[in-house]
Amino acid sequence: MKRRPLIAGNWKMYKTVPETLAYIETFKPLVAGVEDRDIMLAPPFTSLDAAERALEGSNIALGAQNCHYADEGAFTGEISPRMLADIGVTYVILGHSERRHLFGESNELIRKKVESVLRYELIPILCIGETLEEREAGKTLSVLESQLKEGLAGFSAEDLKNLVIAYEPVWAIGTGKTATPEQAQEAHAFCRKILAEMFGEDFSERTRILYGGSVKPENVVGLMARPDIDGALVGGASLKPDSFAKIVNFGRME
Ligand code: 13P
Repeated sequence: MKRRPLIAGNWKMYKTVPETLAYIETFKPLVAGVEDRDIMLAPPFTSLDAAERALEGSNIALGAQNCHYADEGAFTGEISPRMLADIGVTYVILGHSERRHLFGESNELIRKKVESVLRYELIPILCIGETLEEREAGKTLSVLESQLKEGLAGFSAEDLKNLVIAYEPVWAIGTGKTATPEQAQEAHAFCRKILAEMFGEDFSERTRILYGGSVKPENVVGLMARPDIDGALVGGASLKPDSFAKIVNFGRME
């Protein structure tokens, strides 16, 4: 089955509002007319509202990088899915490895966030991936399996119909060390098998699995050529409009 590619940019904690607007002005024409793949930008919370206005009517969807699981409440410093839905966000990245490892997010907490995002019909991008230590200990597949099984426990295929998974090996994030297309394909095929066990073949065949970790214009074509790699979640190389546009336009400009 041919799944529609999704190329997503995760800006992390980069860019002020003026920097966001300048980026979008340059980026929009570079990807105008792209219709056969989805494009998403996830700026920091402070830029979301301005970005939403600047992206209006374009082919670029807006994403958030995280959210709390409650609709509202005494949670100083947090942002709720209700707030994100209200300003026109479409996707929410959940369980990013920086959230898991720097901010102690567990699979159970991430599961609650998935549930909250679905309540507002936002699309969760659930990030999973092993550390270098886990890979070297031969635990990659068991880590991926438990992140999927615990992060998606209790949902039905219908609940998760728009779900996106992002496989991001922690050792490849921000290190310049990309997983080889073979390593990524092996992990993606395994995740698809687990999704089939959990939610059935149809669901698994429909669900997009993105690769993230040092994706660049130079390596995106090799990754995207693999059958189970349906897109990219791009950090560093999404911060410059020209490099991100090259990634979005993979396979078209060579
Ligand atoms: P880099 O592309 O900078 O390695 O980051 C990947 C990532 O964490 C995207 O979410």
